Amino acid sequence: MNAMNNLIIYILSVALAFFIAPTLSLSLSNDPCARIAKKGVSHLYDDVKTCYLSTPFNVSVAKRTLQTLNDLFKDLYVFTDQSKEPVKEGFDFTPLDILSVLDTFLDKKSYSTDFEFNKDLRFTVKKLRDGHTDFQAGCYLNDIVFDQQIYLYSVVKDGKQIIKVFDDTIDGKNVDCEVTQINSKPALQAIKEFAQTQLSSSRDLGVRFNDALASVKEIAIATTSNQFSVRTDLPESDSITYTLECPNRRPFQFVRKWNITTVDRFLEWQDMKTFQSYCFSEFFLSYIPTQKKAVNSPPFTYGKAKQVYNALAANAYTLGEDIGIVEIGTFSFRRVHDSLAFEYQGAFQELAKRKVKKVVIDLSNNPGGSINFAVFLSGLIVPSKHFAFPTDLRVPPTIQQVIRNESRPESDGGFYNASSWNSFETGKPFENAEQFIGNRSLTRGGTTDEYSALFIDQLPDLLLEILKDQRKSPIQFPWDKDSTIILTNGHCASACALVSRYFAEIGQYPTVAVGGFLEQPLSFSTFPGGEVIDNGILTELPAYKPFISNVALDFTIREAYSLKNPNEVLDFQFRPATHRLYYDEKNSRDISLLWEQAADLLK
Ligand SMILES: *[C@@H]1O[C@H](CO)[C@@H](O)[C@H](O)[C@H]1NC(C)=O
Ligand SMILES: *[C@@H]1O[C@H](CO)[C@@H](O)[C@H](O)[C@H]1NC(C)=O
Ligand SMILES: *[C@@H]1O[C@H](CO)[C@@H](O)[C@H](O)[C@H]1NC(C)=O
Ligand SMILES: *[C@@H]1O[C@H](CO)[C@@H](O)[C@H](O)[C@H]1NC(C)=O
Ligand SMILES: *[C@@H]1O[C@H](CO)[C@@H](O)[C@H](O)[C@H]1NC(C)=O
Repeated sequence: MNAMNNLIIYILSVALAFFIAPTLSLSLSNDPCARIAKKGVSHLYDDVKTCYLSTPFNVSVAKRTLQTLNDLFKDLYVFTDQSKEPVKEGFDFTPLDILSVLDTFLDKKSYSTDFEFNKDLRFTVKKLRDGHTDFQAGCYLNDIVFDQQIYLYSVVKDGKQIIKVFDDTIDGKNVDCEVTQINSKPALQAIKEFAQTQLSSSRDLGVRFNDALASVKEIAIATTSNQFSVRTDLPESDSITYTLECPNRRPFQFVRKWNITTVDRFLEWQDMKTFQSYCFSEFFLSYIPTQKKAVNSPPFTYGKAKQVYNALAANAYTLGEDIGIVEIGTFSFRRVHDSLAFEYQGAFQELAKRKVKKVVIDLSNNPGGSINFAVFLSGLIVPSKHFAFPTDLRVPPTIQQVIRNESRPESDGGFYNASSWNSFETGKPFENAEQFIGNRSLTRGGTTDEYSALFIDQLPDLLLEILKDQRKSPIQFPWDKDSTIILTNGHCASACALVSRYFAEIGQYPTVAVGGFLEQPLSFSTFPGGEVIDNGILTELPAYKPFISNVALDFTIREAYSLKNPNEVLDFQFRPATHRLYYDEKNSRDISLLWEQAADLLK
C-alpha cells in the first residue's frame, strides 16, 4: 500500500469515526473483541474466551491447514518416522504417527469454532515433544498475554522437594512461602502434570518441569521459563487457586486471577469482525516475550563472583583464584556478525591469563541460535578432526527435484543449494546435486524413507581463521575433562545442545544439570535438532500449497547424529548429566553459589 492510499484511508477513518462515534461506544459494550483490543488495561477472562470462540469454523480453511501440515510432515519434517518408534527410557512422550492423526483429524470430532480446531491441532503437534516443532494459530497466541503475577520455583530441602513462591508482584509477603496445593492438587504434582501435558520444550519431563518454573536469572522469559505463570495459550479458567504455608502464619488459600493484557504493538484487529478476518488472514507475526525482573523477591546477584570479561556473546567470571566461569546465555543475536566469535576466544583467554585451575561453562537457559557459532565454539575448546555433528535431511522425489533445481548455477539458489553445504565425508562443498541427494534409505518406525548424504555447515572464513590463530596463540587453554564442567538447567537448546553434546561426547567433559525432579536423571541439553525452519520454506517448493490462514509451523528440517555412534540421532538419545544439583533459596538468587557447587564436582 502506498502513502497516498494510507492517507485516503486515514481521512476515511477519521470521517467514519466522526459519524459512528455513538455506535462505537455502544459496540464496545457488547463486543468482547473490541474490549480486549484495548492496551494498557487488564481484561476479563470471559471477554478473551468469548472473542476467541466467536470465529466460526471454516471447513475449507481447516482442510487446507491439514493439507499443508500433512505435506510438511510427510516430506520435510525429519522426525516423522522416528517419532513412531518406542520411547527410550528417561524420556517422557508417547510414540506418535503424526501423518495418520492428521489424516483422520476431521473424522474424530466435529468443530463449530476455529479456535477449538486450531487448539486441538496445536496440542496434537505438541505431543511430539520436539522443542523445534510448534504449530501456532496467530490470532489466539500472539496478542494477548496471561500473567499470574506469582512465580514459582522448586527447592530441595532436607531431602524433600517442594514448590515455593519465587516472586509475587501483588503480595510480596508470599515470597518464599511453600506452595502446598495448586487447584486442590499437591503443588509438585500440579506443575508436573502441567509440564507433561502443556509443554513441549523437551522429551525429558525434568527439563519441561524446569521450563514451567521461574529460572535463576530472569523470572519470566515465556519461551524458556516461567511457563506455568506466564502464558499465551488461553488458560482453562480465569484463575488458579493456591494453598500457601508461610513461616509464622496459618496455611491459607487464595484465588489468583490472570492479569490479562494486550501486547504493546500495532494490532491487526480492533473488534470482532476484524478479529475474525485476522484469524483468516495470511498475516503471521509471532509473539516475542519480554523479560521481567523480580519485584518483591530478594535481588538476583553474582555474589562472590568477579566479572573479568564482559561481552555480548560471552562473559567470564572468577571465583577466588582457582575457579573461572564462562557464561554463554545465547547464540542468537539481533544482529549476528561473525566477529562476535572473537568474544568466545576472549572469554577463555582471559581465564587462561588469570591461570584459573577449573572452568565452569554455564549454558543455562541458552535457547540456541547460530549453528556456526556453536560449531565454532566446539572446535575452539575441543579441537578434533570433526567438530560438527553430521546431519541429514529428508529427500523424497519432490525435494530431489528442488535440490537439482536450486543447485544449477543459473538458479536463484536457496536452502537446497548443494554447494552451500559441505559433505561430511570430504569436508568440502558438494560438487553437484546428486552428491547431496546421496543414496540413503532408512527404515524407522516401520517406514522406509530417503535421507540426504551426511553434511555439515560451511563455517565462514573469519571463524576458521580465529580457530587457526588460536592454535598458534601464546595464550593456550590449559583445561581438559578433569578441569572443565558444563553446567545447565537442562534448557540448553538447539545450537546450545549441539555444543554441549559435543563437549560431553568428544571432550568427555563432565556435565551437571540443576533442577528437575529429586533423584531422577536430568538431561543437560534439549532438542539439538539439526536445524529449525518454518513454513516459509514453502515459497521455495512449488509442489506444495502454503497455508491460507494466520497459522504457522516451526519444525525440525535437519537432524544431527552422534559422532561416536553414527547411527544414533542426537534428539532421540537420552543423555543425562553426569552430576545433579538442586535449587535452594540461596543458590537460586546468588549464582556464584551454584557455580561453586559445580566447580566442587571437579576433583
Ligand atoms: C471459508 O473460507 C473460504 C476461503 O477463505 C471462503 O471462500 C469461504 O467463503 C468461507 N466459508 C464460510 C462459510 O465462511
Ligand atoms: C497487569 O499487567 C500489566 C502489564 O504487565 C501491568 O502494567 C499492570 O499493572 C498489571 N495489573 C495489575 C492489576 O497488577
Ligand atoms: C525450478 O526453478 C524455477 C526458477 O528458477 C522455478 O520456476 C521452478 O518452479 C522450479 N522447480 C522446482 C521443482 O523447484
Ligand atoms: C550455492 O551456494 C554457493 C556457496 O554458498 C554459492 O557460491 C552459489 O552461488 C550458490 N548457488 C546459487 C545458484 O545460488
Ligand atoms: C543405492 O544403494 C543401493 C543399496 O545400498 C544400491 O543397490 C544402489 O545401486 C545404489 N544406487 C545408486 C544410484 O548408487
